[in-house]
Amino acid sequence: MTELVLNRTQYLELEKLGFGVFDPVSGFMTEDEFRGVVDDMRLPDGSVFPLPVVLDISDDQAEACRGANTVSLIHQGEEVGELAPDSLYTCDKETVAAKVYGTNDREHPGVGHFYSMGNWFVGGRTKWSKQVPDELTPHELTPAQTRTLFAERGWKSVVGFQTRNVPHRAHEYLLRVALELADGLFVQPLLGRKKNGDYTPEAILGGYHALIGSFLPEDRLVLGILSTAMRYAGPREAVFHAIIRRNYGCTHFIVGRDHAGVGAYYGKYDAHRLVEQVQGELGIEILRLCGPFYCRVCDGIVTEKTCPHWETATEHVTEISGTDMRAILVDGREPDPHLMRPEVVAALRGVPLFIEDEHP
Ligand code: ADX
Repeated sequence: MTELVLNRTQYLELEKLGFGVFDPVSGFMTEDEFRGVVDDMRLPDGSVFPLPVVLDISDDQAEACRGANTVSLIHQGEEVGELAPDSLYTCDKETVAAKVYGTNDREHPGVGHFYSMGNWFVGGRTKWSKQVPDELTPHELTPAQTRTLFAERGWKSVVGFQTRNVPHRAHEYLLRVALELADGLFVQPLLGRKKNGDYTPEAILGGYHALIGSFLPEDRLVLGILSTAMRYAGPREAVFHAIIRRNYGCTHFIVGRDHAGVGAYYGKYDAHRLVEQVQGELGIEILRLCGPFYCRVCDGIVTEKTCPHWETATEHVTEISGTDMRAILVDGREPDPHLMRPEVVAALRGVPLFIEDEHP
């Protein structure tokens, strides 16, 4: 039988398909599905789906798949599943990148990764038959597990929270808003392929463990990772992240400032605008949250909606950005405790903080 060897990112995509994380997408996208998603953010059945879920292959692999009924999928020397190669296709990557990422600049980490993929895509139904765990697998819950957990806890409303960072006080504020509004909170750090300079899984999990129980009520919160690649696709990825959390059983999802953004590619609230257009079709309610920042006069974390100084007395206001926090930690400096809790900073001591050599 024809075999395709999957790298870790490709394997995780297959595993997530197997978990039902990308529902209603249940296999690597065929050309029809891919075109619909790229051009109109919709699958052929009309449902909203914003990002491609594809298996990229080389010219030689495409040749090997041609005419095969079934392809065996191999990861780390083991058969992990099968694919019915119904559709073999290529695309003009620059055009696709411009639509999906809003830019075809190869310096954009999502675009750069997309350009580095094989020339061909093979799409069709997949069967995932074997889990190949790694050191992060014990931190992961499946959609079936979270749905059971939420039901056991009697939660009717659950807010999903996406993050790729060590928690700072703006994140914490958003989490508290969620806890005020819903029965429970599902914090789901994305720990998959990321760009160099992003936080390591150890740092992110260490930061959350320092918060949960000590500053956030353990019984109202579930922590479980999402092992999939970060796409850095800003607004489209916000919709993608919302669909994923719906599939985990969340009723609400937080989209804050520059969700899944990178550099200056997206406006602060571009993601708010895109989710607003489609939110009635997503099956999950979106909490579009602004701010939060630290105000010296108000003496706490506040937002445009709760602080009178942000427009008129900006000298009192400090924005909290993940990028700034990372820069401070890179220099070995201690962040201002109003911006990141000392207990979170302490949890990072001795832990490798930043990804240095990411590969597929
Ligand atoms: S992301 O790439 O996963 O979106 P991050 O971990 O920084 O990055 O953000 C997690 C969530 O918190 C996102 O919904 C993001 O929009 C929101 N967020 C992060 N920082 C802020 C901030 N300072 N103000 C408002 N929302 C924020």
